[in-house]
Amino acid sequence: MKKIILTADRPTGKLHIGHYVGSLMQRVKLQNEGNYDEYIIMIADAQALTDNSGNIVKVRDNVLEVMLDYLAVGLDPKKVTFCIQSQIPALSELTMYYMNLVTLPRVLRNPTVKSEIAQKDYDKDEAGVPVGFACYPISQAADITAFKANIIPVGDDQEPMLEQTREIVRSFNRTYNKDVLVECKAVLPENEICYRLVGTDGNAKMSKSLNNCIYLSDDENTIKKKVNSIMSFPRNIEDPGIIEGNVLFTYLNVFANDEHFKKYYPEFKNITELTNAYKQGGIGDGRIKQFLNEVMQDTIRPFRERRHGFERQIPMLIEILNEGTKHANELANQTLKEVKEAMGINYFDDTNFIKEQINKYN
Ligand code: TRP
Repeated sequence: MKKIILTADRPTGKLHIGHYVGSLMQRVKLQNEGNYDEYIIMIADAQALTDNSGNIVKVRDNVLEVMLDYLAVGLDPKKVTFCIQSQIPALSELTMYYMNLVTLPRVLRNPTVKSEIAQKDYDKDEAGVPVGFACYPISQAADITAFKANIIPVGDDQEPMLEQTREIVRSFNRTYNKDVLVECKAVLPENEICYRLVGTDGNAKMSKSLNNCIYLSDDENTIKKKVNSIMSFPRNIEDPGIIEGNVLFTYLNVFANDEHFKKYYPEFKNITELTNAYKQGGIGDGRIKQFLNEVMQDTIRPFRERRHGFERQIPMLIEILNEGTKHANELANQTLKEVKEAMGINYFDDTNFIKEQINKYN
């Protein structure tokens, strides 16, 4: 079976270190392993519009921000097709047909959609929720199936969308009695703490609306300020340090490697040694923050520098997206053709249709 990788992000803001460890890292790894037939990364502007219909500027302005972040972390247009969702009409058509395969209660049961609705200030009875928003998992199934994608590198909050997609795939193939669509599987981060990186304020999720993000494009001073602002538990320096719920240590666990220790904290070989010593007491959070700052600076600096390079090549980036979108349209149109054939709504290419209709009236 062909290996087709697909993923997407809504262009509603710049990407942050939560996106990086939650998915971008795996995407780069899959790219560099090189073991795939197609690799498509889509900027999901149409999905972003499902809850930003009045805020076109925000979505429009973030298309290139997201593209720049992709290139900043090392995704490579020579190896990956980059495209823009709204410019691929087949996706909307597929969504239309898939909507008939999903019941209303099923749409409203999606836990990710539910929690997104709860986070917004829609009316308590959900009367303010746009239909398009409630149904975006169905359009996401179109994004995935249009390319017959089977490998989906995403954060674990996207698992309900993939479950919904697999249900649509099975339902379509059963209803129209033909194996047109392909089931997909998520590729999640290797390390479970990366599934959902805590915010700098200790909130369970790093999110722009909570203002607790470290962005991949943050400058040196901003990173330093954000690291220093991370809350820590007040204690006397000689008292034992607490690891559980300690954001500094969560980040160190995710980002600090042995090289960092050699360079910036040679008293310890690795995170295990530091953790043990911290638990004993005697290490202040100021020292930990200093170390974490060095680690984050080293992590983000290459991204920021690469991004600055691409910021001077905007016309080229737009051309990459344009070319990628053309390729994506070819793939999606082919699937749409097969879908319509399986459904029997390909009237003008279907010689049986003409015969049937002639016979009917004779
Ligand atoms: N829902 C995803 C997010 O919020 C974005 C997305 C749109 C997506 N279409 C997709 C992810 C297809 C994976 C596959 O980040």
